Amino acid sequence: MRTLDDLQVDGKVVLVRSDFNVPLADGEDGSRIITDDGRIRASLPTLEYLRAHGAKVVVLAHLGRPNGVAKSELSLAPVAGRLGELLGVGVRLGTDSTGPITAEWISQLQPGDVLLLENLRFDARETSKDATERQGLARELAGLGEIYISDGFGVLHREQASVTDIARLLPCAGGRLVVAETNVFRSLLANPARPYLVVLGGSKVSDKLGVIGNLLNRIDRLLIGGGMAFTFLAAQGYEVGDSLLEVDQIDVVKGFISQAAAAGVELLLPVDVVIADEFSAEAKVQCVPSDMIPTGWRGLDIGPESVALFASKIADSETVVWNGPMGVFEMAPFAAGTKGVAEAIAAAPGVSVVGGGDSAAALRILGLPESAFSHISTGGGASLELLEGKTLPGITVLDEGH
Ligand code: 3PG
Repeated sequence: MRTLDDLQVDGKVVLVRSDFNVPLADGEDGSRIITDDGRIRASLPTLEYLRAHGAKVVVLAHLGRPNGVAKSELSLAPVAGRLGELLGVGVRLGTDSTGPITAEWISQLQPGDVLLLENLRFDARETSKDATERQGLARELAGLGEIYISDGFGVLHREQASVTDIARLLPCAGGRLVVAETNVFRSLLANPARPYLVVLGGSKVSDKLGVIGNLLNRIDRLLIGGGMAFTFLAAQGYEVGDSLLEVDQIDVVKGFISQAAAAGVELLLPVDVVIADEFSAEAKVQCVPSDMIPTGWRGLDIGPESVALFASKIADSETVVWNGPMGVFEMAPFAAGTKGVAEAIAAAPGVSVVGGGDSAAALRILGLPESAFSHISTGGGASLELLEGKTLPGITVLDEGH
């Protein structure tokens, strides 16, 4: 893979794909507030390098899954503002994407200037399954610049116009973040210190269920928390009340449980759960054993006995990878599980890698020191797919790049 050091960027319009898929909340005045800017900060080494070397920088990014519809709540405007603050330079938002206004603004850029295109996923071609549609958008994007830098580590597992198709149209290279992250995961894949433990949680349940089968061939222990735990508990025959449940995945999960047993992988589920009568910080809350979730209640965090069990396994492992919160940590009554597991990982004796925008955000929001972890990844699905040994399309194009 070529890197920034291999390219001459001075005076050129350089397109940079970043992952600015940051968590947002509604502010009191109705504005959208970034609750964790970690992914924006992670993009700075590449953007600062390019600015310092005289490039005119055009950043490409997405936010959420608007599915081809322009939604004001998923505008990148707050990101443009935050990026400008961090870089110390005004960052214009190209609201018409590849349209004439943005093209005009790009023609006016001076070396060191930065412009951000509006959310690429407002255009359905960005994520289209039809390669011809994607290539159409990629050609328009490529027409805006002269060089393409891939620095959105978190989207490298996506075959999308601004990730893969565009890299085939312009001289390309991996940015600082992509190179650094890829190296970490390649070394974990090649030679992890053992016991090797993975903690999985979070709410993108079906995305992660897909990686478990491959992970089970590589690791020694798997701890399951967060939303996906309930599909596992249901697979064991437990009632899970109104908890998040992927009914159509129960048989798949039963297969994982047997596969883990056959492979000698320790698979641990929560033994107790914090449940609530509604999805709200003001809900009635209680803690129950995992096999006693009543109808009408939903599990929103793992309980203290689960934290203690998970912590004991983490303390006894040489490589720990964590992807996905243990509960709805953004609401105080459901934050203890994520915090307890994060603290145990911070104290782990060997290598500790945190993957996934949500887990990384959880660490910062819960006030854990980033320095306590060997590596905090900006990628969720991308880091998991690397760990399970998959080739990511966004890396392949860079490796083949011209
Ligand atoms: C992420 O948040 O993991 C990346 O930005 C990819 O987002 P996606 O899962 O919506 O493609």
